[in-house]
Amino acid sequence: MPWRRRGALSFPGDGILKVTVVGAGTMGRGIAQVFAQVGNEVVLTDVYEKALSLARDSINTSLSKLAKKGELKENPDTVMSRIKITGKLEEGADSDIYVEAVIEKVETKRDVLQSISGIAKPDSIIATNTSSISITQLSAFVKFPERFIGLHFFNPVPVMKLVEIVRGERTPDSLVRKCFEIAKALGKDPVISQDFPGFISNRVLMPLIREAILVLEEGIATKNDIDKTLRLGMNHPMGPLELADFIGLDVTLDIMEVLYHEYGDPRFKPPITLRNLVNSGKLGRKTSEGFYKY
Ligand SMILES: NC(=O)c1ccc[n+]([C@@H]2O[C@H](COP(=O)([O-])OP(=O)(O)OC[C@H]3O[C@@H](n4cnc5c(N)ncnc54)[C@H](O)[C@@H]3O)[C@@H](O)[C@H]2O)c1
Repeated sequence: MPWRRRGALSFPGDGILKVTVVGAGTMGRGIAQVFAQVGNEVVLTDVYEKALSLARDSINTSLSKLAKKGELKENPDTVMSRIKITGKLEEGADSDIYVEAVIEKVETKRDVLQSISGIAKPDSIIATNTSSISITQLSAFVKFPERFIGLHFFNPVPVMKLVEIVRGERTPDSLVRKCFEIAKALGKDPVISQDFPGFISNRVLMPLIREAILVLEEGIATKNDIDKTLRLGMNHPMGPLELADFIGLDVTLDIMEVLYHEYGDPRFKPPITLRNLVNSGKLGRKTSEGFYKY
């Protein structure tokens, strides 16, 4: 794939054109897709072969759906041709922006951010899609912490309008502003959060999911009635148990663990039922079973 600067194609100001997304799971593949949809050349990488082939299938399916609905400006193949899916992180050398989207574990993110730092330019932006881990803590793993920021996309990325921009202690205003513009150029509607675990979204959402699981554990209502209550009574498009299945129960558990550890507050303590489901391999939609069967 020829990497070339073509001026400010999608991003106001200075035309960020080469983007590397590390982690080709649920989030990484969606993030790669939205960057490619607005004209950028994207490298999508993962350590697991299977994740790479699943990512290719999932992006193809998503692009076809968007094209059928008339929501894609170009042919799906043209968008796909901008995404290089590879097991080799080095293919992402000298990117203008890196988005780390690997599992929600500090040690894994540390290793990945250190590897990214080894191939990035001094002025590359390095962003993390973490749902809960401190941006300031993660910034210690990159060479230039003043180029590091949280860009928290939502699932499914091509559909969800929100991006939470999270400012670490060493993130300058100029980078926050730039990322705001980048998110807008991707067709998103961003919000800005200070660096507190869970930011805005998961600080509010995780206690809700936790409480719904406790209502189930205590036998107060069935899972269907708990979800129905939030859907029909509070106008949520999905109930909290359905949403946890959609996020991934492993990801939900990891986020609760981080919040509980950081705040030490029992309102974030992971319920036993959640732990049991994860330990038995029932991770939600991605494994065809979680609170529900799919
Ligand atoms: N699932 C959601 O709804 C959601 C929403 C917003 C943010 N997030 C965050 O996005 C990140 C990814 O979540 P996900 O749901 O995509 O998880 P996922 O489990 O679907 O995907 C994670 C991917 O990371 C890969 N990976 C693991 N170690 C790696 C390494 N060393 N190098 C490269 N790839 C590696 C795995 O193979 C996997 O494909 C997490 O930080 C999560 O908290 C998730």
